[in-house]
Amino acid sequence: MALTGLREDTLKLILFGGKGGVGKTTCASSTGLYLAKDFKTLLVSTDPAHSVADSLGLKIGDEIKEVKGIKNLSALEISAEKTLSMFKIEYDVEIRRLFDTSTYLDKEDIDSILALPIPGIDEVMGFKTIVDLIEEGGFDKYIVDTAPTGHALRLLTLPELLDDWIKVMAKMRWKYRYMVERFAGKYKPDEADDFLLSMKKTVKRIGNILKDQQRCEFVVITIPESMAILETERLINNLSKYGINVRQLVINNVLESTGCGFCRERKKEQEKYINQIGGRFSNLKITITPLQSKEVKGIDALENFKEFLFR
Ligand SMILES: Nc1ncnc2c1ncn2[C@@H]1O[C@H](COP(=O)(O)OP(=O)(O)O)[C@@H](O)[C@H]1O
Ligand SMILES: [Mg+2]
Repeated sequence: MALTGLREDTLKLILFGGKGGVGKTTCASSTGLYLAKDFKTLLVSTDPAHSVADSLGLKIGDEIKEVKGIKNLSALEISAEKTLSMFKIEYDVEIRRLFDTSTYLDKEDIDSILALPIPGIDEVMGFKTIVDLIEEGGFDKYIVDTAPTGHALRLLTLPELLDDWIKVMAKMRWKYRYMVERFAGKYKPDEADDFLLSMKKTVKRIGNILKDQQRCEFVVITIPESMAILETERLINNLSKYGINVRQLVINNVLESTGCGFCRERKKEQEKYINQIGGRFSNLKITITPLQSKEVKGIDALENFKEFLFR
């Protein structure tokens, strides 16, 4: 079978996830080439390893760039670190005010708090960039090459953590607000309130699109090996806990040759795991892609690989 449904007009965001080394980047890049034939497509990497550039054999940066030689395909690498430092610069006044008015901390205390990471803020800001881009509507399709499982799950759970952080801050603000109202009469919301509200909205917007099955699809990649199956199960279960339903799975690196004794043995073992996958994930559509004799690198190899994904 092949990956399906990605051409639906309502479907905007396609994420590829799974364990490290199973072929996420390869599938994301191939899908980019496939969709770019008919849709204006943006390939986004959120994996700090940023291997989309290696996969395509091109340089990509933290600004949207057209992929040379491929009509309709652009690429972007989002650096969580950079988005975070920009966030801190952009909202410095608001965050300071938040602590200044809600706590008895002095400037030095606030400085040291600001140096601490706000939980999940870098991931959330990275995702905010994607959601902003989708809302701007410059492209028909947004393909995201995510970081390996653990990291991707962190990304999905951290909006909740950040949400808790926002709640605590909001509570402190309410106390402050109460005092102001009590002593000065009317309370006028300030930029710290606006900031909390806009953060809250951002977390909500991210959750909304990730959970919207019409607009977003999370494709899980795995390989026929026991460890990979366990991790795949964990990933799919955790995603569903956050309201993200996985509909299709790719089993990559599947041996086709039965030429030598070694290949036959390996193939037999792989078949055992492929059957296991079929049994455990019987509700998912499964696409099998073969192990190639060489790494799948560069446009030509990816064009070739995409035929397996979409045959
Ligand atoms: N079907 C395949 N056959 C041969 N090599 C593959 C195949 N799929 C991926 N690779 C290679 O395996 C390595 C890991 O793939 P990659 O897509 O970067 O994995 P991930 O993004 O999940 O870490 C890359 O060198 C890639 O070219
Ligand atoms: Mg990768």
